[in-house]
Amino acid sequence: MIYIDPPYGKDSMGEFAKTHYNNAITRDNLLSMLYPRLTLARELLAEDGVLFCSIDDRNQAYVKCLFDEVFGEENFVATISRVTKKGGNKGDYIKPKNDFILMYFKNKEFVSKEYYALEEKCEKIDKWLEEFFLGENRRFIKGEIPYRSKLESRTNQRYYIECPDKSLIIPPGNVFPEIKQDGAKVTPLSNDDKCWTWSVERYLQEKENNRFYFYETDKSPFLNQNGEKSKWGICKKIFQSEILDQQKIFLTTLIDNCENSQATREVDSLYLSFSYPKPVNLIKNLMKVSSQKDSIILDFFAGSGTTGHAVLALNKEDGGNRKFILCQLNEKTDTTPNGIAYDVTAKRLKRIMTGECYDGTKPEKWLEENEPYGGSLEVYDIDSVANFETTAGQTPFEVIDETLYGKEKFSTVKEKIEWVCSNFEKTQKYLEESDLNKGRGD
Ligand SMILES: C[S@@+](CC[C@H](N)C(=O)[O-])C[C@H]1O[C@@H](n2cnc3c(N)ncnc32)[C@H](O)[C@@H]1O
Repeated sequence: MIYIDPPYGKDSMGEFAKTHYNNAITRDNLLSMLYPRLTLARELLAEDGVLFCSIDDRNQAYVKCLFDEVFGEENFVATISRVTKKGGNKGDYIKPKNDFILMYFKNKEFVSKEYYALEEKCEKIDKWLEEFFLGENRRFIKGEIPYRSKLESRTNQRYYIECPDKSLIIPPGNVFPEIKQDGAKVTPLSNDDKCWTWSVERYLQEKENNRFYFYETDKSPFLNQNGEKSKWGICKKIFQSEILDQQKIFLTTLIDNCENSQATREVDSLYLSFSYPKPVNLIKNLMKVSSQKDSIILDFFAGSGTTGHAVLALNKEDGGNRKFILCQLNEKTDTTPNGIAYDVTAKRLKRIMTGECYDGTKPEKWLEENEPYGGSLEVYDIDSVANFETTAGQTPFEVIDETLYGKEKFSTVKEKIEWVCSNFEKTQKYLEESDLNKGRGD
């Protein structure tokens, strides 16, 4: 899973944007900066991976188009809206209080719909499955017993059902079909004559679909063809896929209680300062529906490191072993003289993982309500990119000369990124192997 929260301007007005970051970002900047990153991000995603992108109301339409181009409109899942604040007076004419999260799959065809069910509901279903599991590879649970009291409209619904040992069963009552065979019916005479839920035609059709489960019981309410108590019980099967289909996530409810004020408190409690962080709960909830316990989560606009925080918090909650990769431009601001990456991102993660600051002091306020998450953190300073010198103002993709590799010049950056990604992987493996062979595995 990838979660990003790109640096759109504070006032978010295209070329008039002002930003609270040092490198003022216009909409043109934003879109052209995002394009190669998204193309690369798509390559990095697992085939059934998902990307979420937070964006404000002014920019979402433009950014959505860019996403459609890179991911394909068919892989668009939803624009989820989030309430960012309940109060406040900012805004002319109206006071906006929402932002948005674009959700895209890398490739919808690889994503199981069944997986996209609320975790809590899945747990509930698993519990039912354990309670009622009746065999056949956990594919179904025991549904209701399919019989009803007699109603006028159910004159077609008193008939024999054949059991696995070829005996017949019928709901309690006094009248019986003359012919003793599966599906032979009789018209009920009074309310004492109970009926099956389905018409005889529907029953025969559902029987073909293997919809019934028979079990032996001494509490069977049914009578056999001789009017005696049967040893057979019957219930309708409910297949797991049908249940999950009804439980598709309703994401808007998932991201309730994820307001910005909460995020600011979370960062403040660690004695750090960052403008406009996202709340841990937001990313945690997105992860709940779209990650597995061993997923890798990437955020390449890490800011204060909320995504890493959310990964650690969710791992603790559900015993997962998710890993995260965060990238953060080391922008220097008034409050971060060593750069955001050093002064906020790394510090936050260090504090929540160990309960200690780099200088040995403790984030007491946070520790009052939390326990350190543990885990291991590696922090890298990216000095030069890959094995070649970059030229100022150019991306690594622009610098690589494909003609040196016997390729025609690519006409789009997308093609070039795809080519670099598939070949980089091979080159990297080869270098690692040869280094190890030479005893230089470090
Ligand atoms: C909106 S913030 C992300 C906040 C983060 N989600 C959090 O909860 O703390 C966007 C981040 O993008 C970074 N950024 C700004 N310009 C950038 C650029 N040109 N390339 C990469 N990152 C940039 C900023 O430093 C900032 O940390």
